[in-house]
Amino acid sequence: MKVAVASDHGGVNIRKEIISLLEELKIEYTDMGCECETSVDYPDYALPVAERVASGEFDRGILICGTGIGMSIAANKVKGIRCALVHDMFSAQATREHNDSNILAMGERVIGPGLAREIAKIWLTTEYLGGRHATRVGKIDKYENEHA
Ligand code: RB5
Repeated sequence: MKVAVASDHGGVNIRKEIISLLEELKIEYTDMGCECETSVDYPDYALPVAERVASGEFDRGILICGTGIGMSIAANKVKGIRCALVHDMFSAQATREHNDSNILAMGERVIGPGLAREIAKIWLTTEYLGGRHATRVGKIDKYENEHA
């Protein structure tokens, strides 16, 4: 699995935690910034990650900002992206099993690094269940294809 990781200035600490997790799990990753001491704009980080996941260059993406909301809104504008904003372990598992989410968004002003690490670990290691969920995800794909 290849994972792209990025944050804005509001998510730098959790991004570092996630990178340490990816190294521990021996998962290949690319750190796409930010190299920020000062304020940056979250779409400048969310959209390149989302495009590179949608193109197949990366299998998954992880995005962190202050709330996770801006990153998730931006990432979900890219066709083929199912970005889940997650702040609890139950949802981390459910969104992989049910939604086949391919990007995880989290907010550093919402949760701490320890919980973010646990959420990311579950999200990275949980398989999509398919079946009836594939019918539902397929309806989203169909809508996206018909309204491109
Ligand atoms: C930056 O101040 C903040 O707006 C950003 O990190 C994020 O929370 C946006 O949704």
